[in-house]
Amino acid sequence: MGQDQTRHRIGILGAGNIFGRYVEGLRNFPELELVRVADVDPARAKQAAADHSVPAWGDDTELLGDDSVEVIINITPPQFHAQTVIAALEAGKHVYAEKPLATTIEDGKAVLEAARRCGRLLGSAPDTFLGSAIQTARHALDAGLIGEPVGASAFVRHTRAETWHPDPRALFQPGAGPVLDMGPYYVAALVNCLGPVRSVAAATRIGAPKRTVTSPGRVVDEIDVEVSTHASAVLTFASGAIGTVLMSADVWDTELPRIEIYGTEGTLALPNPNFFDGNVRVKRHNDTEWEVLSPVVGLFGAVDSPEQLRRGLGVQDLVGALGGGPHRANPEFAFHTLEVLTSFDASQEEGRFIELESTCERPQPRQSL
Ligand SMILES: NC(=O)c1ccc[n+]([C@@H]2O[C@H](COP(=O)([O-])OP(=O)(O)OC[C@H]3O[C@@H](n4cnc5c(N)ncnc54)[C@H](O)[C@@H]3O)[C@@H](O)[C@H]2O)c1
Repeated sequence: MGQDQTRHRIGILGAGNIFGRYVEGLRNFPELELVRVADVDPARAKQAAADHSVPAWGDDTELLGDDSVEVIINITPPQFHAQTVIAALEAGKHVYAEKPLATTIEDGKAVLEAARRCGRLLGSAPDTFLGSAIQTARHALDAGLIGEPVGASAFVRHTRAETWHPDPRALFQPGAGPVLDMGPYYVAALVNCLGPVRSVAAATRIGAPKRTVTSPGRVVDEIDVEVSTHASAVLTFASGAIGTVLMSADVWDTELPRIEIYGTEGTLALPNPNFFDGNVRVKRHNDTEWEVLSPVVGLFGAVDSPEQLRRGLGVQDLVGALGGGPHRANPEFAFHTLEVLTSFDASQEEGRFIELESTCERPQPRQSL
C-alpha cells in the first residue's frame, strides 16, 4: 500500500516526560502522521510506542535510517539538542527541536550552520507564540491599541518541577534552569510582539545549592544545582522599548504578572506564554476597567483546558513552510532568543551590558491587519 502523499511522516526522538503530550497534540493535525519513536534507551521507545500506538520504535540510528520519515521532532534533554539535531539534519531530515535550540551560542551557531549546509528546514520551540493569546497581543500592538510600546515586563516563576517531573536533574544543570528552560517562552513572546533585542544586562545567582525532589515515581531524592536559578535582567529592544525581566526557580509564589507591555496610550496584559491560549487584556488611559480582547485566531480549546496537550503547532508551521508558507518558528528567531538568554550569565560574569550579535525579523502574524 502506498504512502499518503498529503501527510507528512513524523518521527520523534526522545520518549521522556513530554512525549505523551506531543503524541496527543500531533493527533490534532491531520497532515501530521507519527510513524516512529526512538530513544537512546530503546526499551523506553518500545514502551512509549506500545502505550501510544506508534507503529515503529527503536534507537537513534534506526530513526535516522528510516527513509520514510520526513520530519524529526527532537524532544531529548537540552544538553543533547545540538548533537542530535545536527545528526538528524545530516541524515537528510527536517527537524523541529524543543527549546532551547542549544545550550550555548557556539552550539546554536553549529546547528544553524548544519541546517544551511544540509538544505533542510529547522524549526524550534517555543511555538506557543503561534497560539491565540500572543497572536492577539501582536495584533493589538500592530493596530496601535496602546500606542508606541515604551516598556515591558516579564516574570518567570518556579515551575515546581521537583514536585511533578520524575527526573528533574537536567533542569538544574547548565543548559537549563529557569532562564533556558522557561525563558524561551517569554522572550519569544516579547520578540514576536516588540521585535529583536539589542542588549542585555543581568544579575544571576544560584538560590540554593541543593533541592529536594518530591515527585511521584522520582528517580532521585535530591538535586545538585549547577545553573543560575534566579536572574534579574534589563532588555533593550531595537525599537527603543525597555524590558524588565525576572526569571526564577526560587520564587515559589508571587502576584507579579506574566507579561505586560506598556505603551504611550495604555497597557496590554498577556497570559502565561507557556500556554497557547488565555485572555489578553487592555487598559487605555481613560478606561476604568480592563477589557478582554477577542482572540484573532481560533482557540485550541476551552481557555482553561489542559492545552499543554496541544503540542504540534510548531511542527504544522514547519511543514507549512515546506509547502512554501511562512516559517514563523524559524531558526534565526530561535537563535536570537537563545542569545538573549545566554547573555544573562555573560552579563553577570562581565559586569556590563552585552550587545547582541544576532537579530531577527518579527515572525509574520497569523492574522494580518
Ligand atoms: N517536560 C515538560 O513538561 C516539557 C514541556 C515543554 C518542553 N519540554 C522540552 O522537551 C524536551 C524533553 O523534555 P522531557 O521533560 O521530556 O525530558 P526527559 O528527560 O523526561 O526525557 C528525555 C528523553 O530523551 C532521551 N534521550 C536522551 N538523550 C538522547 C539521545 N542522545 N538520543 C535519543 N534519546 C535521548 C532520554 O532517554 C529520555 O527518554 C526538553 O527540551 C524540554 O525543554 C519539556
